[in-house]
Amino acid sequence: MNDQKTETILFVDDEESILNVASEFFNRQGYQTLTASNGVEALEILKKETVDCCFTDINMPEMNGLDLAENIRLQDSTMPVIVMTGYPSLENTIQTIKNGVVDFLIKPVNLKQMELCMRRVLRQRALFVENVLLKQEVESKERLEKLNQELIYKVEELHILNQIMSSFTTMVSTTDVFKRAVDVALEITHADNARFYVINETVNQPFEVASTGSGTSPKDQPDADNDLSLADASALSGLIMEVVSDEIPLLVSNNNGARGLPPDLRSAMVVPLKIREKVFGVLTASLRAGDNRFTEKDLFYLSFMAKSAAHSIENLALYENIYENLFATLYAFVNAVEARDLYTREHSSRVTGISMIIGKQMECGLEELDILNFAGHLHDIGKIGIRDDILLKPGRLTDEEFEKIKEHPTIGANILEQMGFWEKEREIIRCHHERYDGTGYPDGLKQDQIPLLARIMSVADVYDAMASDRAYRKRMEEDLILKIINEGVGTQFDPDVVAAFMEVYDQGTILHYMETGQIKDADRHHAIQVSS
Ligand SMILES: [Fe+2]
Repeated sequence: MNDQKTETILFVDDEESILNVASEFFNRQGYQTLTASNGVEALEILKKETVDCCFTDINMPEMNGLDLAENIRLQDSTMPVIVMTGYPSLENTIQTIKNGVVDFLIKPVNLKQMELCMRRVLRQRALFVENVLLKQEVESKERLEKLNQELIYKVEELHILNQIMSSFTTMVSTTDVFKRAVDVALEITHADNARFYVINETVNQPFEVASTGSGTSPKDQPDADNDLSLADASALSGLIMEVVSDEIPLLVSNNNGARGLPPDLRSAMVVPLKIREKVFGVLTASLRAGDNRFTEKDLFYLSFMAKSAAHSIENLALYENIYENLFATLYAFVNAVEARDLYTREHSSRVTGISMIIGKQMECGLEELDILNFAGHLHDIGKIGIRDDILLKPGRLTDEEFEKIKEHPTIGANILEQMGFWEKEREIIRCHHERYDGTGYPDGLKQDQIPLLARIMSVADVYDAMASDRAYRKRMEEDLILKIINEGVGTQFDPDVVAAFMEVYDQGTILHYMETGQIKDADRHHAIQVSS
């Protein structure tokens, strides 16, 4: 039996004969052997050599076997130390175990017994090391998987947060923000529906301004779904009022009826929207169908979105406020101009109304209708720069006087230009006396060169001028007015605009408006409401 083993064994004993016998025996078995006569020597060897197993005597000078075992354990807890002693005592035995000694042999020891003992402890050690490594590997794999999963969540979260933030950067009106907020809420939380309520101090009930998802429908298309919409509002009203007073987001992940919610409402979230620490609205999301439930994460996303939306609304409100203030100031000028002439009072307001009726008939978008609303009210603001004796002259104007009057579109456009914005509105004001055939003023533009909204306003302006009393004449007969407008097709007016005007005229919308000042089926969306 002289096969080469890989293990190195250290023998520590102050009896040289024992060291010699043991070394010789184990060498013959093919092991590498090292010897030391006390603990201190042994530790020196261990610093330089790799040892797989250590046999030590207990009673030795310099450092005894138990102290050696303790030192070894501190350096490498996996190295087996086997203690051999001629005088076993209970105290020693306990101490050896405390010191991490793995086995115990009683002198005089049988060499074969030593080898068996060593093989056993080495096998145990190998298993132990293997276990530790395996455990470490599993743990690190699990940790990696967890980290990876966390990374995926983080990336996903960043993506969603980014999506939320960029959702509100291009908004041009608060109405857009309301609509966008419910759309994004539905998208990120996978809710069945989402709603935006504004909380008004004067009204106790939350007022819905936008909704999307199942069970919702546009306000102008009432249908059976609206019953559900009302049901939803009343079902959530308790939660909404709670959120309004507590000012913190609320999650009902799994409705068990405890909060008085209807049983078919499975999961709901309500988050507050605050401007300067004051709640002005709430966003709700609910789940009625399926097994999905909202989680804390959904609530986090919804709250984050509410913050972004509130921020955007605050900015827009600030802008809209400035915009409305400025508009109101300018419109006060128009009123002042119109007030000087009994006959032109509210002319601009009526031109706006008629222009918007035609604009809607021609399927203008909300933005174009807003431009018409603005430009209509201010279209004659340039008259502020015309002398009263010309402006208020009852009879026919001289050529020279008429040239002065013709300056008002340019003056009006210039006033707005000084504000530095409202470019489209400015253009409409400048062009409202252009004619389709190019013979108008101030620029002699024709056909498509004239902005559509100016072509619309031109018909409205002329209609109102003929349909109201003037200082020098009574209002004209309707038939005559229509005849004159029709005769102007292709010369003064855009044929398409006149066609649209005639359609709404035939529907009675124009006369209804002239009599009541109300637009039938008024679209109340428009932000600017100026009392005139
Ligand atoms: Fe005008």
